[in-house]
Amino acid sequence: MNAVVLLGPPGAGKGTVAEVLVNKGYKHVSTGALLREQIQLKTPLGIEAKKVMDHGQFVPDEVVVEMIGELFIEADSDANILFDGFPRTLVQAQKLDDMLDSLSGTLSDVILMECPDDVIVKRITGRRTCSTCGAVYHIHYNPADSCTIDGCDITQRPDDDEATVRKRIEVYDERTAPLIKYYSDKNLVQSVDASQSIDMVRGHVVSLLG
Ligand code: AP5
Repeated sequence: MNAVVLLGPPGAGKGTVAEVLVNKGYKHVSTGALLREQIQLKTPLGIEAKKVMDHGQFVPDEVVVEMIGELFIEADSDANILFDGFPRTLVQAQKLDDMLDSLSGTLSDVILMECPDDVIVKRITGRRTCSTCGAVYHIHYNPADSCTIDGCDITQRPDDDEATVRKRIEVYDERTAPLIKYYSDKNLVQSVDASQSIDMVRGHVVSLLG
């Protein structure tokens, strides 16, 4: 098993890049999407998660680590897993190392998607997401009237208003940014200027993982 981590602030374009990597054989694992599924299903986990996600805060480490642990149990030994939004804290990063070790898996790359705050806010407040499959659009940069994949409605996520986005950036800086040093110390980090166009960012990431 091999794993790649897409690391970067909210709105850097992790999900947008993941869409093309899926076509290259990666299994895309977004903890945000997994949590939103639980919210939609109104499970006890989803009900608790929504309370913190709507305020831009993180779901507790143990909840996220358990979700990823279950996924590892089901994954093929030759899977290429692309993590988007996980790990997000040092505890999660250490747990990921432990889980990979126990399966003789490796973490081959950490792609750091760097993007200034003002660009992030513009992207996230203009984002629209398919209510069914989660495909991502933008009112200016990637517009659509309905989902081009399944024709369903595209809507704004409840945590995509400006105040919540600014809170999410603050939480990223405080709790996730320390992972840059954690992974740099292991020589795993490759940086991408994520403020460029969608095609340029996707092309750069694909070339790094090619
Ligand atoms: P999550 O869903 O992971 O949100 P996020 O990390 O905040 O990232 P986003 O999905 O907002 O952004 P993205 O980088 O994927 O950007 P996108 O490609 O969509 O998590 C949501 C919440 O769940 C968290 O706040 C937390 O509460 C909880 N959670 C999740 N994982 C957790 C964990 N591990 N631990 C604890 N809690 C966790 O692009 C954004 C917009 O910009 C789109 O409209 C897109 O079309 C546009 N765009 C993208 N790239 C470009 C470009 N290059 N140029 C122009 N427009 C672009």
